[in-house]
Amino acid sequence: MVKRGIIPLLTGIAISLSASLIAQAENPKADVSHGRDLARANCSPCHAVTIDGASPLHQAVPFWRMTIHRDVSTIERDLLNHALPKDNVMPVFNLTPKQARDIAAWIAWVQPRAHGKRILETNCAKCHAIGATGDSPHPDAPLFRELMQFYPVDAIEEAFSHGIETTHPDMPIFKMTELQVADVIVYLQSIQSEK
Ligand code: HEC
Ligand code: HEC
Repeated sequence: MVKRGIIPLLTGIAISLSASLIAQAENPKADVSHGRDLARANCSPCHAVTIDGASPLHQAVPFWRMTIHRDVSTIERDLLNHALPKDNVMPVFNLTPKQARDIAAWIAWVQPRAHGKRILETNCAKCHAIGATGDSPHPDAPLFRELMQFYPVDAIEEAFSHGIETTHPDMPIFKMTELQVADVIVYLQSIQSEK
């Protein structure tokens, strides 16, 4: 069998990736862009409210790290019930259920795994199976949930950041930023199937 490899590519025309707000929120009833606007207006003086970056106030956890230790639904509930830590720094906001839901949906949206998933949905799902189940729409495109059986993480990181080129004419060349690579890896790790 011919060995297949991810070939890092240093030059050439590469497509840069996008993942826009148009895609659906995890909670279909929530309005993510409304949540984003609320977060920008109310939370950004202290918290980093987007997919990366440090918080202006260092004790305030960046939004993109908030679900490392807790479920996003607990954030919605705690915001609504004023049950967040009361240390006199974080103000107590009086939120309507809709506001709490939309902010929580925005916080879910900026998590690394969700960001990584959107990148693959937008750019790769047309050919590859990107989920924990299902076949690839393109018969030759490997299932992403099996990728890490064939390649170590650093080979994938290297290939994604320099641009992946395959011998297959149907596969476009993609090049990702450092943050996109990191978040795609978080997502890929979460779906790998045990063999
Ligand atoms: C004036 C600064 C400030 C503003 C404005 C602010 N926060 Fe905070 N927030 C903090 C600080 C500081 C903490 C850490 C409190 C602690 O851990 O004791 C915190 C903690 C939190 C937590 C708990 C984090 C965790 O790890 O569980 C959530 C959730 C949260 N903030 C959401 C928000 C939301 C949503 C907004 C906007 C509606 C907001 N905050 C606005 C300062 C702020
Ligand atoms: C138009 C279809 C198409 C799209 C879009 C596409 N791929 Fe592929 N991809 C393929 C095909 C077909 C192969 C199999 C190539 C081969 O066997 O040489 C492949 C192979 C791969 C491989 C394995 C490479 C190897 O040498 O074994 C990786 C990794 C990969 N794709 C990642 C991605 C990522 C990440 C995206 C989105 C950013 C993406 N692909 C988008 C069609 C596509």
